[in-house]
Amino acid sequence: MKNLEMVTIIVNDRPVTAPVEAHESLLDFLRNKAGAVEVKCGCNQGDCGTCTVLFQGKAAKSCLILALQAQGKEVRTIKGFSGDSLMEQLQESFVRNGAIQCGFCTPGMLISSYAFLQATPQPAREEIRNAISGNLCRCTGYKKIIDAVEEVALKRTGKQQDKQTTPSSFSEGQEEAKGNYLLLGGG
Ligand code: FES
Ligand code: FES
Repeated sequence: MKNLEMVTIIVNDRPVTAPVEAHESLLDFLRNKAGAVEVKCGCNQGDCGTCTVLFQGKAAKSCLILALQAQGKEVRTIKGFSGDSLMEQLQESFVRNGAIQCGFCTPGMLISSYAFLQATPQPAREEIRNAISGNLCRCTGYKKIIDAVEEVALKRTGKQQDKQTTPSSFSEGQEEAKGNYLLLGGG
């Protein structure tokens, strides 16, 4: 018989209580118990970063955290940023810069970028590269992702004018990228 323990984890401001096994990861809890399937599972061993969430305000790979360790703690998934201006700017910039292709890495990439820009509002380009080095992307070659994050940083520090691009004016390719991302549960 399985040894189960009840835990309560605050997921996107909502307490979720469920029984967990000792070895169960936060990633499995989020996807299987909290219904947060927008958190993606890639490698399940800490290498790819697709499972990244905001854990107690910091970007963390949820496959490396035990659900038991998250007892009473706050987790934010990509669906938990509604109305957050920094995240909205990042999402729009990713689409505008072609930093989303298949979209599988995008939720984790966005959350890593978000946590990084919160801590480092005026980063050097090399710092952005380092900040996302734990998130793998098989599609974009990273340059467009770094461009997207850099553009947001420059705008927020007033060093670059907004291009006045709105979601409704995205090109066909950009719309497709955005669609992939939304289909995977992002945004
Ligand atoms: S699924 Fe967690 S790092 Fe790959
Ligand atoms: S893995 Fe496809 S967009 Fe990054």
